[in-house]
Amino acid sequence: MKLFLDTANVAYVAEIARWGVLDGVTTNPSLVAKEGKDFKKVVLEMCKLVPCVSAQVTAPDVEGMKKQGEEYASWHKNVVVKVPMTTDGLQVVKYLSGKKIKTNVTLVFSVAQAILAAKAGATIISPFIGRLDDIGEDGMVLIEEIMDVWSHGRFETEVLVASTRHPRHIIDAARVGAHICTIPYEVFKKLPQHTLTDNGYKKFQEDWEKVKNRG
Ligand code: G3P
Repeated sequence: MKLFLDTANVAYVAEIARWGVLDGVTTNPSLVAKEGKDFKKVVLEMCKLVPCVSAQVTAPDVEGMKKQGEEYASWHKNVVVKVPMTTDGLQVVKYLSGKKIKTNVTLVFSVAQAILAAKAGATIISPFIGRLDDIGEDGMVLIEEIMDVWSHGRFETEVLVASTRHPRHIIDAARVGAHICTIPYEVFKKLPQHTLTDNGYKKFQEDWEKVKNRG
């Protein structure tokens, strides 16, 4: 499973990329607004660090989204145009996929939406599991159902598990065979942590200090 960072913060991307495990980045307008930086500059800096950067269109209509999507795609080969899961968005995905521009359909909350986005030619679909959990549903069930449909081999679209909130979401996404998981910085930082690793490492270092100068 590919691991993406869900952020508009270039320093966070550089830090996690150094670990050697980062496959891409997803941004959205809320994350971009939080950082308050020049969007194009941010995307281009991220494209130097990872091979896949999702940049979301914000125009209110089909023609506007098409134009914005083509512009984003012209910035760098690593850009994936993120498009909302609306009927307008589906038209944009169909158009951009016809031009060999990669797309990521965001705000997917049902299997029906996942199927429509894949049929429109989406490179990636992003079901949001945390927001389903937030309203008392089980977001991972949606991923299981999508992967069940995908198991028949009819769709090439990659399933990206989005809106993750904690490490268990990442583990479960991998268990059900999701292609990609996007992870907030704070959650990504938790993934390598384990108290037994910390304690064990400390003890190994201390014991080595006792013997390292012998004979
Ligand atoms: O980037 C899309 C998604 O991961 C947003 O997550 O936490 O705002 O539900 P969240």
